[in-house]
Amino acid sequence: MNESIISSVLKIKLCCESVFVSIRNICIIVHIIVCHFPVVFGNSCRAYGNLRLEPLNELSDFAILVPAKSERRQDMITAKGICKSFRDKQVLSGIDLDIKPGMIFGLLGPSGAGKTTLIKIITGQLGSDSGEVSVFGKNVKELSGEDRKQIGIMMDDHGVYDRLSVADNLKIFCDIYGISYSEIGKALSETGLADSAKKPAMKLSKGMHARLKLARVFLIEPKILFLDEPTSGLDPMTMKYIHKLITARRDAGCTVFLTTHNMEEATVLCDEVALLNEGKIVERGQPSEICRRYNHQKKINIHLKAGGDISFAHDAESAGEIKKLMEQGILETIHSSEPTLETVFIELTGRKLEAEEEIRYA
Ligand SMILES: Nc1ncnc2c1ncn2[C@@H]1O[C@H](COP(=O)(O)OP(=O)(O)OP(=O)(O)O)[C@@H](O)[C@H]1O
Ligand SMILES: [Mg+2]
Repeated sequence: MNESIISSVLKIKLCCESVFVSIRNICIIVHIIVCHFPVVFGNSCRAYGNLRLEPLNELSDFAILVPAKSERRQDMITAKGICKSFRDKQVLSGIDLDIKPGMIFGLLGPSGAGKTTLIKIITGQLGSDSGEVSVFGKNVKELSGEDRKQIGIMMDDHGVYDRLSVADNLKIFCDIYGISYSEIGKALSETGLADSAKKPAMKLSKGMHARLKLARVFLIEPKILFLDEPTSGLDPMTMKYIHKLITARRDAGCTVFLTTHNMEEATVLCDEVALLNEGKIVERGQPSEICRRYNHQKKINIHLKAGGDISFAHDAESAGEIKKLMEQGILETIHSSEPTLETVFIELTGRKLEAEEEIRYA
């Protein structure tokens, strides 16, 4: 009798154990499927560590794993459908932009294209007729004072107090932004103006004047810098100096939004550009990538030491011919035929940028 009871208990125990192991195995399998194949589980938004399950799109039943919001490289500046008219003149017609952190973004366009108007709208100095702008992921109209303190704006028409010295100009700016005067020395040396601190602004050269305007915005250690034509009218040496200051800021993590109508400058300075013409963005991308996209000729152009140019098709057959020229030592230069940004702009718009305002990049 006792034996039969013990045997029954053992059987029940074994049975329970096998049910428990089965349930545990099912749980493990479900866990693995949920973590590694989330797409099969519809569009509920769930978090998995630093990842979130989000719908593929509004209409889809499928979902994908994406980094949680805090993990994403959020755009610093976004603009959607910006339109602006002055009286009956349409200046901006549906501008869309998204600018990632830590890049130099160049808005290129001829005089009157709407560059300054767009900067004013993005920085909240001017309202748009329609569309939305976000800076730091917030609607520009809802930026706090603290947010605004992280935005440096250097406009073409923001004046410097001519009768005041360089240092006093910076002191006024410190007073406005609540910055300690002790920061002035750093901004002066960064912009190479330390020896001119006592000079009245009216006695500065054009290049020094531009550097003073940069020193002013550098004082606030901005996370975003808006520079409206920062090198306009400067000689090539000063232009290069200003470029170095701007790239140093970018390398330190600052996002730079600048305007220019100098395509050569944009090619060497900007990580990404947008070409603006008559209020519309007609092309956008990395300068070199845009130029490659419009390389219709696809040629290799060679200049010979003895003078004379030869053009080869950009293909395997030409390789042997080019090799021979090289072996004979008669080849002086060799270039592929991508157009410049300027040429791309002309192709897209049929118009040239204002030549008299451009200074060649040396
Ligand atoms: N406050 C305003 N009232 C009326 N028209 C304006 C105003 N501001 C700009 N505009 C007009 O809008 C157009 C675009 O001007 P904007 O200054 O934005 O051009 P831009 O691309 O910055 O030119 P530039 O390279 O010469 O600085 C121009 O036709 C200009 O006359
Ligand atoms: Mg302008």
